[in-house]
Amino acid sequence: MWSRHLIRFSNNRWMSTSVATNVKNIMGWWDHVLPAPKDPITSVTEAFLSDPSPLKLNLGVGAYRDDEGKPVTLECVRRAAESISGCEFLESTKATTKSKFVQDSVKLAYGNDSNVVREGRFAGVPALSGTGACRLFAQFQRRFYPDSQIFLPTPTWSNHHDIWRDSQVCTSTYHYYDPDTKGLQFQALMNDIKNAPDRSFFLLHPCAHNPTGVDPNYEQWKEISHICKIKNHFPFFDMAYQGIASGDLERDATAIRIFLEDGHLLGCAQSFSKNMGLYGHRVGCVSIVSRDENQATAIKSQLQQIVRAMYSSSPVHGPLLVSAILNDADLKALWEEEVKVMVDRLIRMRITLRQNLEELNSSASWEHITKQVGMFYFSGLSPKEVDQLQRDFHIYMTNDGRIRGDKQQCGLLGKCNP
Ligand code: LMR
Repeated sequence: MWSRHLIRFSNNRWMSTSVATNVKNIMGWWDHVLPAPKDPITSVTEAFLSDPSPLKLNLGVGAYRDDEGKPVTLECVRRAAESISGCEFLESTKATTKSKFVQDSVKLAYGNDSNVVREGRFAGVPALSGTGACRLFAQFQRRFYPDSQIFLPTPTWSNHHDIWRDSQVCTSTYHYYDPDTKGLQFQALMNDIKNAPDRSFFLLHPCAHNPTGVDPNYEQWKEISHICKIKNHFPFFDMAYQGIASGDLERDATAIRIFLEDGHLLGCAQSFSKNMGLYGHRVGCVSIVSRDENQATAIKSQLQQIVRAMYSSSPVHGPLLVSAILNDADLKALWEEEVKVMVDRLIRMRITLRQNLEELNSSASWEHITKQVGMFYFSGLSPKEVDQLQRDFHIYMTNDGRIRGDKQQCGLLGKCNP
């Protein structure tokens, strides 16, 4: 659209001119920014918070809660916090704190007696929990394999798709969960690994698969490792739930240990949010196994450069807490006990939920609830049923029917007769 205006020059002459008032030409800087689609997990919390009902229950986000629905601070963390009090302000210890934390973290994932650790064949940096660890790896992948893609299981933690998308790495999917059997689609998974182009990146959940709670067994992991080796794929493990599947930190690292034994070079994202309850601290680690120490040094310097340009460096308080626990025999034993208590409680809740549903003569089978492991029950409820539970009973869960398994909530859920 054009409109005519008169312009007066300094010599008092006037000129008539057309001025563009075209909408496009006067568009504001951010007029083209539309609201982002809602996050499938955090939006559940937002909806829950805006519900005024006193009966409301949030079974959405994967953050462990006690019987009253309150966050839990582990006793080992309280004691560790006392023991490190003041250290976090010591600027001079920053570098040593971080390298110690990385060493402690990879030992937990790869094993105390791991050759990789002994030979220094890994590069690792602290990360902002599991998301940060995945993101650093995705950026690293993009930097050195710009045309590569990564295969993600169907389904997977929704943020995996977003993390690799924002790192400009394409994603593909591989078969994982079978909605009919509510178990693993093992053969289809193996076929997808076999049929993927050689030297592909594969994201694997080593334990307590999020959201399904369905993990391959020992023999299946051996086969997965074997086929990945033949295909020269690069396995990247997102281990957000070490300890939370079986209650045993070592046992939950079995998949990674199998791959290491088979001589894979691999990547690993670790988070201490769930197993130490350090949600708000954002403590994690990303590590990459390398051919030798020199390669590890090069990889580490690249990871550090990615961190430097993104947020310079990570905070030290969380790493100090983790190292204090992992290096003190008493605190470590207490931690292991507390992890077991959380997991036993989650298992008891599975049993209660299944019993409650069966007592209501539900026509559906709820056997899968007690077969799955970890923090979530992948209920099999449809999005419509999830909506109904939210609307009529103020029970909130993710749209895919994933339920976080806390006692009080599960008891009530059983009474709702979905
Ligand atoms: C989840 O799956 O709910 C957790 O991993 C928390 C999150 O940030 O998504």
